Amino acid sequence: MDRNADAPWSKFDPEVYVDNNYRTPLEVDRQIVRLMRDHFSTCFAGAAPGAVRGVDVGAGANLYPALSMLPWCEKVLLLEYADPNVAYLERQTSPRGYDTAWDAFWEVLQEDEAYRGFDPRARFGDIVRVERANLFDLDGQRRWDLGTMFFVADSMSECPEEFRRGVRCFMNALNEKAPFAAAFMKESVGYQVGEHQYPAYRVNEDRVRESLEGFTTELKIHDLHHMVRPGHEGMLLALGRRNAEVAAV
Ligand SMILES: C[S@@+](CC[C@H](N)C(=O)[O-])C[C@H]1O[C@@H](n2cnc3c(N)ncnc32)[C@H](O)[C@@H]1O
Repeated sequence: MDRNADAPWSKFDPEVYVDNNYRTPLEVDRQIVRLMRDHFSTCFAGAAPGAVRGVDVGAGANLYPALSMLPWCEKVLLLEYADPNVAYLERQTSPRGYDTAWDAFWEVLQEDEAYRGFDPRARFGDIVRVERANLFDLDGQRRWDLGTMFFVADSMSECPEEFRRGVRCFMNALNEKAPFAAAFMKESVGYQVGEHQYPAYRVNEDRVRESLEGFTTELKIHDLHHMVRPGHEGMLLALGRRNAEVAAV
C-alpha cells in the first residue's frame, strides 16, 4: 500500500497537471466553483469584505479555490508540499500575475456581485502567499476563518488512516464557524501526472460524510457525476461550517 511519504511528490509536474485538468475548463469544475461561491457568499452575507484569513491546503496547481476566497479575505495562504507546485504557486502570485488559464474560473465567480469591483490579479498578488508545508503537520495550533482542500486527503495516499488524518488535520486548522469547501475524487484508483503515478484512497459519499461529520454543522455533500479520466467515478464536493468541537489529531 502506497503511503503519502512513498509518492514521488518532488517530481510532480504542475504544467502537465494543469493541461490534464484545468487548461480546458470543464463544466464540472465550473459547477463546483458556482456551488462553492454561493456557499461562501451565503456564509458571509452582511459581513465586512476582506476581513478574514483563508487557507487552501494542498493547493497544488489549482487557483480556483483561492480565487473563490478573494472577496472575503485580508490574507490567503496556499499550503503545498511538493516543491514544483510551490514554485508554480510562487510564479502565480508574482507581480506578472497569474496565468490566463484561470480567467475562465474568475468569469464564473464574477456572476456573483461580491466578486465584482476589484481586479482579481492585483488582489491575488497582494493578499495570497505560498508556504511549503505538510498537511500532517497542521496540529490545530494554526487556525484560519475560511478554508478549502481540493482533491488532497483522498489523492495523497492509499492508506485509509492517512485519508482520515488528512481530513482531521484540515478541519482542525479551521476556527469555529469557519466556512469550508473540500473536494474529493469519487472511487479514485490513483492518477498519472506525466511519467509518474500518484496514489489515491477510494472514497464514496458515506466515507466522506463519516470523515467530516464530527467537525461540521450544515454539512452538504454534492455528488457530481462527471468523469475527467478513467479510474474514478465522479467528484464529491463537501460544503459546510466548522463546529465548535476540536478533535484530536
Ligand atoms: C491531486 S493534487 C490536488 C491539487 C489541487 N488542490 C487541485 O485541486 O487540483 C494533490 C495535491 O496534494 C499535495 N500533497 C500531497 N501530499 C501532501 C502533504 N502531505 N501535505 C500537503 N500537500 C500534499 C500534492 O503535492 C498535490 O498538490
